[in-house]
Amino acid sequence: MESSPSELREWQALEEWRRSFASRTIASLFKVDASRPQRWSYSAASIHVDISRNWIDENTFGALLTLARARDLEKVRDALLNGEAVNTTEHRPAWHTALRTPPKDPSVARSLEEEQRLFLGFAEALRSGRIQGSTGAPIDTVVCIGIGGSDLGPRLATEALGAPTGPVRVRFVSNIDPVELRTALEDARPEATLLIAISKSFTTLETLENFRVARNWLKAHAQPLDAAHHLAAVTAHPDRAEKMGVHPKRIFVFPEWVGGRYSLWSACGLPIAIAHGHEAFLQLCAGAAEMDAHFAQAPLETNLPVILGLLGVWYVNFWNNRSRAVFPYAQRLRILPAYLQQLEMESLGKRVDVDGRPIGIDTGPVVWGEVGTTAQHSVFQFMHQGTHWSPADFVVIAEHAQSNERRNRLLHASALAQADAMAWGDSVLGAERSTAAHAIAPGGRPSNIISLAQLDARSIGALLALYEQRTFVQSVIWNVNAFDQWGVEVGKKLLQQRLDREPF
Ligand code: F6P
Repeated sequence: MESSPSELREWQALEEWRRSFASRTIASLFKVDASRPQRWSYSAASIHVDISRNWIDENTFGALLTLARARDLEKVRDALLNGEAVNTTEHRPAWHTALRTPPKDPSVARSLEEEQRLFLGFAEALRSGRIQGSTGAPIDTVVCIGIGGSDLGPRLATEALGAPTGPVRVRFVSNIDPVELRTALEDARPEATLLIAISKSFTTLETLENFRVARNWLKAHAQPLDAAHHLAAVTAHPDRAEKMGVHPKRIFVFPEWVGGRYSLWSACGLPIAIAHGHEAFLQLCAGAAEMDAHFAQAPLETNLPVILGLLGVWYVNFWNNRSRAVFPYAQRLRILPAYLQQLEMESLGKRVDVDGRPIGIDTGPVVWGEVGTTAQHSVFQFMHQGTHWSPADFVVIAEHAQSNERRNRLLHASALAQADAMAWGDSVLGAERSTAAHAIAPGGRPSNIISLAQLDARSIGALLALYEQRTFVQSVIWNVNAFDQWGVEVGKKLLQQRLDREPF
């Protein structure tokens, strides 16, 4: 059994370094070293990250890296990337990286390639109109029914890539609230609609219930429709999908070792390929693969997921900070905060370590956020003057800074202005500064600028892989399993007990 991270002397050293910041400000760090933005910037896979507005100096950075080494980060990272059973409570790998970089084992590589060939082929057949409804009408609407990882990743990537490039519109339904499915089907014609149930387990209540209701909507159509032409499924349990009336040729599978919140790279990405084509999907995977290669090979000192993960630990455990905000400055990344909430809070919201012992230190923070600039007129009051604070990620698109469209330039400049205000507060306002107590913004609030070269499939893939690996890094430092979610089961079981007591 490993000792608790907090018992390590490297941990105690960091507590000392934390105290060394008591008499300093972020502004004073810049005064000492005006070249901070250059010193504290890193690039990989079309992503540039500036961490200069953090409470960080050479000593702390060195101490954080020493902690990472003491936690054997490189060894555990290799175990993850080599497909070892890092998901210890479920005794299996968490090998989503194999979906974007073919693994060495030829039989695994072949079977993944075949699974991908099948769902990408189906997407292209739909886009070309070769797949029709049972009356011969081309499919023009696809309604994807899934929840959690079977919804958020595919939904985010589909939205992030912009307007669909094919003739098929893709909609997503996750909530059991009837309104969402009703809205998705409102102007859909059953004879031209395909319903895709996306569920790894094919036991999830919301998904099965919505899929049943949607199937009945098909049946209620005046003209009898052959359901086999209007249903498809993505799952790790094809037998269960077949039992619900999905034709075996329309069931796309992925391995059990792909976790739900890490599954958009598998057949769960079918909606992405339907909306944007197989090339866009492959580019998304290529961007993620680039980030994985960087994570695997770059020294810890320049390794983006490692650096961001360590900053996460720094604020949670040494600054007593229990939340982190994310502000994507791109409307197409609107649901990034919701996606990250699942990725990080399901992965890191853990109270026992990998040996089942209470951890005794704080783990995953609350992750929250909103799209910029909308967020500036809602939550930024808290960001600048609240009594406690959230470190923030500003996700920006570099090419917006040079855009011909003035509003894109404004969008980009707004993110930087907010990050500056968080770091320096009102002290840099000069003549416009007010001395009234209620107008003072103290600054000293850290943030990262995460800059994508452009908002394309490759950069989006790299960004999502960056967040996945950063989450993993934190789990290694805290010694928790990032790949299970037993807490969710409690609520599921209680609902089932209620349903058994009072049948609906
Ligand atoms: O209950 C939580 C959860 O298991 C998530 O981890 C998962 O992404 C979601 O439900 C959906 O599960 P499934 O894909 O099996 O329907």
